[in-house]
Amino acid sequence: MELSEAALIESFNAAGQGQVFQFLDELDAASRAALLAQAARIDLAEVAGLVAAHVTGAHTGGLDLEGLEPAPCIARPENGGDPDRWAAAWAAGSAAIQAGRVAAFTVAGGQGTRLGYDGPKGTYPVTPVREKTLFQVFAEKIARSGERFGVTIPWFILTSGINNTATIEAFEAAEYFGLPKDSVHFIVQGLVPAVDGAGKILLAEKGQIAMTPDGHGGALRALVRSGAVATMEAAGIDIVSYFQVDNPIVQCVDPAFIGFHVLGHSELSSKMVPKAYALEKVGHFCLQRGQALVVEYSDMPESLQEATNADGGLRFNAGSVAIHIFDRDFIARAGGDCSGAKLPFHRANKKIPFIDAQGERIVPTEPNGIKFEMFVFDALPLAKDPVIIEAARGDDFSPVKNAEGVDSPQSCREDQLRLFARWLKAAGVAIETDATGLPPFRFEISHRFAADEADFTGQWAQLDPKPEIKEGVVIGE
Ligand code: UD1
Repeated sequence: MELSEAALIESFNAAGQGQVFQFLDELDAASRAALLAQAARIDLAEVAGLVAAHVTGAHTGGLDLEGLEPAPCIARPENGGDPDRWAAAWAAGSAAIQAGRVAAFTVAGGQGTRLGYDGPKGTYPVTPVREKTLFQVFAEKIARSGERFGVTIPWFILTSGINNTATIEAFEAAEYFGLPKDSVHFIVQGLVPAVDGAGKILLAEKGQIAMTPDGHGGALRALVRSGAVATMEAAGIDIVSYFQVDNPIVQCVDPAFIGFHVLGHSELSSKMVPKAYALEKVGHFCLQRGQALVVEYSDMPESLQEATNADGGLRFNAGSVAIHIFDRDFIARAGGDCSGAKLPFHRANKKIPFIDAQGERIVPTEPNGIKFEMFVFDALPLAKDPVIIEAARGDDFSPVKNAEGVDSPQSCREDQLRLFARWLKAAGVAIETDATGLPPFRFEISHRFAADEADFTGQWAQLDPKPEIKEGVVIGE
């Protein structure tokens, strides 16, 4: 039932959030209506709970580290894993893809502030020659995986109210990168109000509440609320391959990973990579009281991040690369409204431009506000039979997060070149590289041509004529 205007304002007053309407009388009719509509969508009980738990309450902030151990992971064959087990997983995963049970799912609702790029992050150009965008890379990979197994793989993309329109416009302009339009589904995640240090909801404008996306953990409830879970069920899809928009070298639809998930009857499977160095800024796969969980680097004391085993190796070595497989029914359970299994929110202190009590717009230089986010990996302790497999960093993880240095456009371009060079070498092509595997010139392998090294080897063998490998060449276009 919709509240009347007076009742809506009264509910905010009663919740101690009446400041939201402080400038209501100054607004024109359209802005007034927009503010009231925005306010009506806010879950005041949720906000009150968040403020009590994370702002005004006696929150300790620290994570319970009691009994934390490294989580067991399935090693890759070259690191002691059983090659027959990997082959069986590949076969099982291929069968699941072929049977149409698999959808791809990208979380792209974040604000991408660290990169300093104004626009949906998926529209950022990343490949070395063609400068294809992140979205185009994923679209081509998904198309090739579907072609390889004789199916159309649906693609679900999480956006937020802040970037949804711009994201859809980018897909329209690119004619969905050649994918069937009806195979691409945009899901808009929820927004949560940002508050000040006293727990009061901030205004971004006199007629607009400051809202931020509810975190990638909001993906689960967005998939349920939007009807995407029902769409998947109707289409016979029960395996959801999850990855982040910032990582172009991810294998969007990895048969072996899917196979381990299926054979393990897992509700939530994850890929880990051995950490590059002790304090690498990734989550850590751990076990606590028998349950798997991810502990963020920011929550784990440096002494634990740096702890070593008797052999000198890092004790907590399993870095989370934010690549998962979800069981559809598990999404319904963890993201549903009344199961009591909703994910916890985390607090982040941020610089949030706001309108002060005098009506002045303030752009802070220091964190002044608090936003609330759910993390998708907090679903791990809720999942039955979680499976964690080792991934090769070079085949799955090189995100674009920062403008320069580590995890930047340049480091990612170089990692793409290393991967392309490895694929060529695996196909028997001689190519000059330095000690890190980096070739001295730029070229590219189209993701529409091959989805992984084995696929490339097969495709390359059939390619006639074969292009000369030199600066600027694009293989498979
Ligand atoms: C994340 C993980 C970290 C992991 C690392 C790997 C968190 C808190 N940490 O760090 O454990 O090791 O990636 O790269 O996630 N997103 C949304 N909606 C939101 C917020 C984010 O869709 O409301 C999406 C972003 O578009 C992006 C992804 O989630 O695709 C990651 O978000 P980001 O905040 O950049 O996480 P990281 O700090 O990089």
